[in-house]
Amino acid sequence: MTDAAKSKFTPRVFSGIQPTNHLQLGNYLGAVKRFVEMQNSGIETIYCIVDLHAITVWQDPVDLQNATRELAASYIASGLDPKRSILFNQSQVPGHAELGWIFNCVARMGWMNRMTQWKDKAGKDAEKASLGLFAYPSLMAADILLYHATHVPVGEDQKQHVELTRDIAIKFNHDFKVDFFPVTQPVIEGAATRVMSLRDGSKKMSKSDPSDASRINLTDDADTVAQKFRKARTDSEPLPETLEGLKDRPEARNLVNIYAALAEMTPEAVVAEYAGQGFGTFKPALADLAVSKLSPIADEMKRLMADPAEIDRILGDGAARANAIAEPILAQTYDIVGLIRSRRT
Ligand code: AMP
Ligand code: TRP
Repeated sequence: MTDAAKSKFTPRVFSGIQPTNHLQLGNYLGAVKRFVEMQNSGIETIYCIVDLHAITVWQDPVDLQNATRELAASYIASGLDPKRSILFNQSQVPGHAELGWIFNCVARMGWMNRMTQWKDKAGKDAEKASLGLFAYPSLMAADILLYHATHVPVGEDQKQHVELTRDIAIKFNHDFKVDFFPVTQPVIEGAATRVMSLRDGSKKMSKSDPSDASRINLTDDADTVAQKFRKARTDSEPLPETLEGLKDRPEARNLVNIYAALAEMTPEAVVAEYAGQGFGTFKPALADLAVSKLSPIADEMKRLMADPAEIDRILGDGAARANAIAEPILAQTYDIVGLIRSRRT
């Protein structure tokens, strides 16, 4: 953030997750747990379920609705308080799509072409990818800037998209000679900004990995969690005394990072505690720790999911509050661009 932006924009946090599949441990440690910490720090927080992003690739309509409610339940079960934070699904606030369109006209094709997530998701057959998938980062910029959000907590993989959001804000401000959109900061902190697959230390843990053994889902029961950690790929060396010793041991480093994030310790403190111990000791300790942190969340999710109408009510309430912040910002954007908007709701 520039100093000018710092003084002009009050701190506001925005982040989002796509409602696709179950949340995995990487989402929890890299995103949701951080969202809750930010909420509890007293800053204004807005958290979104980005269903419009989800449909950039095919989603079965019934599955999409279920995944949206399940993600809302995961957020709340993890400690997000829908009274203190604003929690809603993106498609209920029309400003996201409206500002997204304006940003489609600000962002350049070349910028989108450079996005690694686009290259990964579109694969070799980019011709067959949806236009929405290509424009995905510009909708993400709209999500953030529709609220003049100053801080965006995300995992490492979203850094490039937040940087693009900054580029869009800067270009918009420059083209229209205004100081209207903040230059947002990504917040990528903690021991678990990039949780890796349990089967392959060079791949990130992902909801969409075909191997269920590669990840811990928030919905996994205690036995499944323990079994997945037991089978996690590692080497046969004991844990070293310092982090230096994990330099070329990505799988071991990943488990240490997960332990640190769950226990709210530094990775240095974890290796100091387990120095000289083998995985025969460390893995069960990690599994116990994970179960003790995750099973209350899974139980609470089940309870919340039993009342989908209540979840829908919470999302509707959040959408109304989000819309109240978005509307004046969108109205001013229309004005700046020269779009007549005489209707007022
Ligand atoms: P997604 O599942 O792609 O919608 O991601 C939702 C959020 O979780 C984003 O902030 C991601 O950066 C974060 N995230 C996803 N996978 C991981 C991971 N393996 N490690 C850390 N953060 C992650
Ligand atoms: N692209 C993000 C992801 O896949 C999700 C997302 C959409 C997001 N809009 C956002 C994250 C706005 C932060 C802020 O994880």
